[in-house]
Formats: sequence, structure tokens, C-alpha cells
Amino acid sequence: MLLKTVKKIREEGLIVSSSGFLVRAMLNKIDFSRPLKILETGSGKGVFTREIINKLADGSELHISEIKTEYNCHLEKLIAQHPEKHITLYNGCVTDVLKENNEYDVVISSLPLQNFTRMNDDNEFLHRIIESFRGCLKDGGTYLQYQYFMSNKRDIELIFGKNMDEISFVPLNILPAFIYNMTKLPAPCEQQEA
Ligand SMILES: C[S@@+](CC[C@H](N)C(=O)[O-])C[C@H]1O[C@@H](n2cnc3c(N)ncnc32)[C@H](O)[C@@H]1O
Repeated sequence: MLLKTVKKIREEGLIVSSSGFLVRAMLNKIDFSRPLKILETGSGKGVFTREIINKLADGSELHISEIKTEYNCHLEKLIAQHPEKHITLYNGCVTDVLKENNEYDVVISSLPLQNFTRMNDDNEFLHRIIESFRGCLKDGGTYLQYQYFMSNKRDIELIFGKNMDEISFVPLNILPAFIYNMTKLPAPCEQQEA
């Protein structure tokens, strides 16, 4: 039992799914009244996915990325309940989805970023993921991420080239969590040729 819990923390970065308080606090930061193209990554059993699907406006598109196939049954069930919505499940590492040149309005990530820093690669994988999030967002798009100890706040700020737009704290979660809200600045205008 203890070994199983340690394995889950190492691989997934948590013991139990996120609380309804954390899910609501994170999703309240998104304006769902208009059609959105959303990437949700690190879905697990789909605590965020279920609420995102319920909130999607007509014309929206949702891409779900989860590396573990054992959660497929939960995610496929949620998708099957909403045949009218445009939802795609990508099984595999999020980097595969990010190679597809999609442009998103919002990225909602539960990825255990802190776990990636334990890889013996000088944070190459961690930085590649954050850079890819920035790259796949439309100008003005939003990256939402929760973390328990603000371990990678600075990495995200350095890669996005600015401070977080907002950080909020949700105490009612195991563990209490911080939500990062980072918007992508529009690229500077190209110099007009004389
Ligand atoms: C902290 S859990 C979050 C689960 C759920 N969203 C929640 O908040 O309760 C992180 C999830 O990210 C998944 N994950 C880890 N690395 C991943 C990767 N490179 N690409 C996609 N998913 C990944 C894990 O399998 C796990 O389900």
C-alpha cells in the first residue's frame, strides 16, 4: 500500500484527485461564454475534464492529453456522454500533441512539473514542455497550472518573459494548491521595411 502510494506520487504528483474547490477555482478563470479551443493535459480520471465539457460553448473544441492508458475508460465515458461536442483524447506524452501545430485559447495543465525536475536532463524536458505551452497558445491566450509549492513559478515566468498575471491559493485541496494564471503576450510587431 505504502509502495503504491509512493509510486503514484512519483509518477503523477498526487495522492488523490483534485478537489471540487480547486477545479472550480481554476475553471472560473476562463470565459466559457464564447467558443474556445482548449488543451487539457494531465487529465487523470477526468475531474477537470468533466467540468470543462459541461461548460464548453457551442463551436468549442477540447483536446485531452493523458499519458496513462489506465484512465482511458473514465475519459472515454465522459466523451461518449457528449457526442455533440468536439473532443479528442490523445493518449501519450503531451509533447506529441504539442507537435501538431494547434493554436489554443487556453491550456489547462495538471502536469506534475516538479516531478520533471527530477529527470537527469538539466530541466530540458520541463523547459521543452513550458516552451511548447507558450508556443501553442494564441496571442493573449491563457495557461493555467496548479502546483502545491510554487516550485516552477520562476521557470514559467522566465519562459513566458513576464510575471504571472495572477496567483491564487486554494486551501481546500489535498495538498493545498496555488493556481498560476499566465497569459501570452502578443509577439512584438515586425519592423516594417523602409
Ligand atoms: C497530478 S495528476 C492530475 C490528475 C487530475 N487532473 C487531477 O487534478 O486530479 C497528473 C497527471 O498527469 C499525467 N501525466 C504525467 N506526465 C504526463 C505527460 N508527459 N503527458 C501527459 N500526461 C502526463 C499523469 O499520468 C497524471 O494522470
